[in-house]
Amino acid sequence: MSSLEKYGPFALVTGASSGLGQEYARQLAASGLNLVLLARRNDVLEDLATKLTTKHNVVVQVLAADLTEPSGLHAVRNLNQDVGLLVHAAGLEVNGAFIKSDADAQRRMLQLNVTSTFDLVHHFLPKMVDRGCGGVVLFSSLSGHMPNPYFANYAGSKAYVLNFGASLRAELAGSGVDMHVVSPGPTDTPMAEGTGVDWSKVPSQVMTPEAVVRESIANLGGKFLTAPGYGNKMAVWISKHTPSEWIGRMNARVMQKALPRDKL
Ligand SMILES: NC(=O)c1ccc[n+]([C@@H]2O[C@H](COP(=O)([O-])OP(=O)(O)OC[C@H]3O[C@@H](n4cnc5c(N)ncnc54)[C@H](OP(=O)(O)O)[C@@H]3O)[C@@H](O)[C@H]2O)c1
Repeated sequence: MSSLEKYGPFALVTGASSGLGQEYARQLAASGLNLVLLARRNDVLEDLATKLTTKHNVVVQVLAADLTEPSGLHAVRNLNQDVGLLVHAAGLEVNGAFIKSDADAQRRMLQLNVTSTFDLVHHFLPKMVDRGCGGVVLFSSLSGHMPNPYFANYAGSKAYVLNFGASLRAELAGSGVDMHVVSPGPTDTPMAEGTGVDWSKVPSQVMTPEAVVRESIANLGGKFLTAPGYGNKMAVWISKHTPSEWIGRMNARVMQKALPRDKL
């Protein structure tokens, strides 16, 4: 029996059309879990569903939904499947000088990174607690652990995810439901590519989604936090032992070199 079988029969994976969510879906299917794949791009999800069903002989359902819209959250609430594992990997990032940023884009990011996290967990958690078994995987970021100038609102949204998860973890002790937060550093996905950051000027190694998800799944049900890889673990340790003003100033200098000038 796979150690993930207790999270069955279905895992709901959001952000399954790309990056870390897509990789989470692949690795869960390989371990025999049935899936509901959620993102906005139906064609990408259908294609992945066909591949995973064929390769791993699991049931895969697709739910094309926009989690920043009430209709998208409504569609999730109407799901019939018994979801034993929620993996909420859908996320947005907006960067650049905050005072120049577009308020609508920033608000949309908060709706996805913060409000939909609250809504999905609030919907699925009571059923998991009722049956005494389940798991929730949320995606924070290294940015959630420390000031990240030029990603200020993104960093704030990821700090919410981290503290929300850590608080619920203690509240759920003894319930049989596992709360797990992943705090990746730079990871080779369309999101990291789309930031415009020159990662060669940032003192951290870019990881593969495969390695990040493998470490998260290995920790699921054991450790609360996955800061994948040695460099990200060091960064989390430093964030706990260094005044946040110093880290803020240092990260500002790094981003002033790594972001294109028109974003500063
Ligand atoms: N990559 C990194 O370097 C990195 C580092 C730290 C933390 N993270 C976090 O890890 C998580 C996954 O990131 P990623 O790198 O895999 O990003 P990604 O490749 O850009 O994937 C984001 C996913 O979110 C979905 N999505 C976006 N807007 C949505 C909406 N309104 N409703 C529903 N789904 C939506 C996208 O699908 P559609 O476009 O099809 O909707 C896509 O599947 C995010 O929370 C991110 O903040 C990433």
